[in-house]
Amino acid sequence: MSTQKIGVLGSGIVAQKLGAGFVREGHAVMLGTRHPQKLAEWQAKTGEQVGTFAEAAAFGELLVLAVTGRVAQDVLQQVEPAIRGKVVIDPTNPIAEGKPVAGVLPFFTDPNRSLHEMLQATFPEVRLVKAFSHIGAPFMYRPDFPGGPPSLFICGNDATAKSQVSDICAHFGFDVIDMGPAEAARAIEPLCRLWCIPGLTDRQWEHAFKWLRRY
Ligand SMILES: NC(=O)c1ccc[n+]([C@@H]2O[C@H](COP(=O)([O-])OP(=O)(O)OC[C@H]3O[C@@H](n4cnc5c(N)ncnc54)[C@H](OP(=O)(O)O)[C@@H]3O)[C@@H](O)[C@H]2O)c1
Repeated sequence: MSTQKIGVLGSGIVAQKLGAGFVREGHAVMLGTRHPQKLAEWQAKTGEQVGTFAEAAAFGELLVLAVTGRVAQDVLQQVEPAIRGKVVIDPTNPIAEGKPVAGVLPFFTDPNRSLHEMLQATFPEVRLVKAFSHIGAPFMYRPDFPGGPPSLFICGNDATAKSQVSDICAHFGFDVIDMGPAEAARAIEPLCRLWCIPGLTDRQWEHAFKWLRRY
């Protein structure tokens, strides 16, 4: 994997863990946020850069959209046109406001329309790839489970972008499964709800998906 400049839009646990993973892989990373002071510890630990959303978007040759699903569209709008033509890894989930019911998170999408498709339709020149949406942030880089590498389902419309992201995910320690174009996110995003149930009901957060196949 050739080294690149990575712009991560976000300051939460996903931004920090994926950002640190990219640093470990030898890339230069800038995290983007409205509140740079939140990232002082991350910055001190990694020696990497922190900026605004716009600065991180301009910095990155490859981007990660690590913001709350509800604001994903707004944040991409804010950083247009710096993101045109760039590959953007999309781990977002369409989690709605409101409480989980029996551990099941509320979504603001419906079964026939995903957040990923909405973003891709709004920003057709951005090369979005859904990835890392159904694994807990602590396990996003080199996860170590007794059953071997977890499966990571990805999708997106741009084959070259998907191949690049697939390579990254494999280096990060996953068995990568390409489920096809953007529409597959209708099936991938809900896996976040399944993954969260044991956490929200029994405080069990240490698990991952494994896709068993005979082909
Ligand atoms: N947590 C996980 O384990 C996990 C796993 C898989 C996928 N995901 C998905 O990954 C994404 C990031 O998750 P997370 O848990 O790291 O963090 P999060 O709490 O979902 O999102 C934090 C980020 O959202 C931004 N944000 C929130 N409200 C905003 C607003 N009104 N305007 C602009 N930006 C706003 C924050 O910006 P500032 O930096 O400016 O505060 C921050 O960077 C989410 O879509 C989540 O569903 C999470």
